[in-house]
Amino acid sequence: MACKTKQVGATSMDKIVYQPIKVETPKRPAGQTDVVNLVTPKLETVRVGFIGLGMRGPSAVQRFTHIPGAKIAALADIRPERVEKSQQILEKAGLARVPGYSGSQDAWKALCEREDVDLVYIVTDWETHVPMALYAMEQGKHVAIEVPGAMTMEDIWALINMAEKKRLHCMMLENCVYDYFELTSLNMAQQGLFGEVIHAEGSYIHSLDDFWKAYWNNWRLDYNAKHRGDVYPTHGMGPACQALDIHRGDKMNYLVSFDTKPFKGKKLYEQLTGKNGDNFQNGDHTMTMIKTEKGKTMQIQHNVMTPRPYSRMYQLTGTQGFANKYPTQGYTIEPENISKDDVPNHENLNSHGFVPEDVKKALMQKYKHRIHIELEEQAKKVGGHGGMDFIMDYRLVYCLRNGLPLDMDVYDLAEWSCLVPLSKLSLENGSAPVEIPDFTRGAWNKVKKYRHAFVD
Ligand SMILES: NC(=O)c1ccc[n+]([C@@H]2O[C@H](COP(=O)([O-])OP(=O)(O)OC[C@H]3O[C@@H](n4cnc5c(N)ncnc54)[C@H](O)[C@@H]3O)[C@@H](O)[C@H]2O)c1
Repeated sequence: MACKTKQVGATSMDKIVYQPIKVETPKRPAGQTDVVNLVTPKLETVRVGFIGLGMRGPSAVQRFTHIPGAKIAALADIRPERVEKSQQILEKAGLARVPGYSGSQDAWKALCEREDVDLVYIVTDWETHVPMALYAMEQGKHVAIEVPGAMTMEDIWALINMAEKKRLHCMMLENCVYDYFELTSLNMAQQGLFGEVIHAEGSYIHSLDDFWKAYWNNWRLDYNAKHRGDVYPTHGMGPACQALDIHRGDKMNYLVSFDTKPFKGKKLYEQLTGKNGDNFQNGDHTMTMIKTEKGKTMQIQHNVMTPRPYSRMYQLTGTQGFANKYPTQGYTIEPENISKDDVPNHENLNSHGFVPEDVKKALMQKYKHRIHIELEEQAKKVGGHGGMDFIMDYRLVYCLRNGLPLDMDVYDLAEWSCLVPLSKLSLENGSAPVEIPDFTRGAWNKVKKYRHAFVD
């Protein structure tokens, strides 16, 4: 059933052409232009205010105590004890306590209004990200927002419009693009080792059984109870979109989604809340497939319910090679695509098996990304998901201090987060195709190829 797709013409009884469900692209307000490759005046010191100090927030505060050129300027959480916990992190690091804001729903606003804050770093529950980010940008602050950046199309467009209007950075804190295997493989892809990358996969497959009870006010399970679709797509989307140069020469055109029923979700909700779970919306397993303008594909999955080993899938399929992270890390490279001088065992390479372990090691060393060469050692010491969180924060501060475009812009936030509302739309319409808007409104092909910016 393609209920709401539009029939655009039938050339014969057996050839009916349907179009994807169209979602509105609001007209760009007069006087605004896109913020692709946005650069803003260099900041000698990046003064950061944190909002949201629950499970994730304090680790960001901790990481920022190690970042050169960053200064923690203020802290906010609705719960005073959470602000206090982060003040203690500062004290332990030998730093002075900073102004703290708590005690009411909108106490964080005063943090955004402070003269001595350049960047507002938002680590609250999903539905509060956007009002906080909009208010902060209104006050002239750059913003960094935890994942997913926004949950509705209205909110996504509101962030884009505000970032364009104010010419400010609005970055989503997608850490997985800095993971060791992902970034090394991206470097290999960018240097042509896999030929042309034609298909990418990613996912968030992580049983949250140990975490559900720990979220403030049960926000995460409640959100899943109310919303069908892939509600946490960005850990898979980020690395996939970077490898496919999305809005740097290609763009996503449409998606289709499938989900299972909430077999476990319903029961879990009933157990944890004591409420009736008959109307629990989020399927236990959700899959989304995406087609790009250049004819490439992506597959993204979400499963936070059933027992399974953790997986972000991470897979790149190229015309001459292949990268795979879960459950087995490995590469397949056509022998002709790599020099005998670069790897041992060259004679054993083939197009139907993973390269031997020593070849993989040699490849990963040769294609280590510049970011990892520079930061790996310190990142491992500071930590945060094996170091990738530190690298994300470091890069954000480095780019702001040097007046460089950030690694992730507001359109990345939009593209990676839009699966939340658009997968829901597809599912609620019999898995019909749904158009993915060009969030850059015409600038998706301005930059050719995704690259990180450096001073030299
Ligand atoms: N990138 C990653 O690897 C990763 C990992 C974990 C969480 N996250 C993201 O981080 C965010 C927070 O997740 P969490 O696990 O820390 O949740 P959490 O429930 O532990 O923390 C949320 C915090 O926000 C605070 N808060 C809520 N409303 C507020 C308000 N009006 N003013 C001030 N503070 C308010 C709560 O008191 C709480 O301390 C989410 O967006 C989540 O998706 C990302």
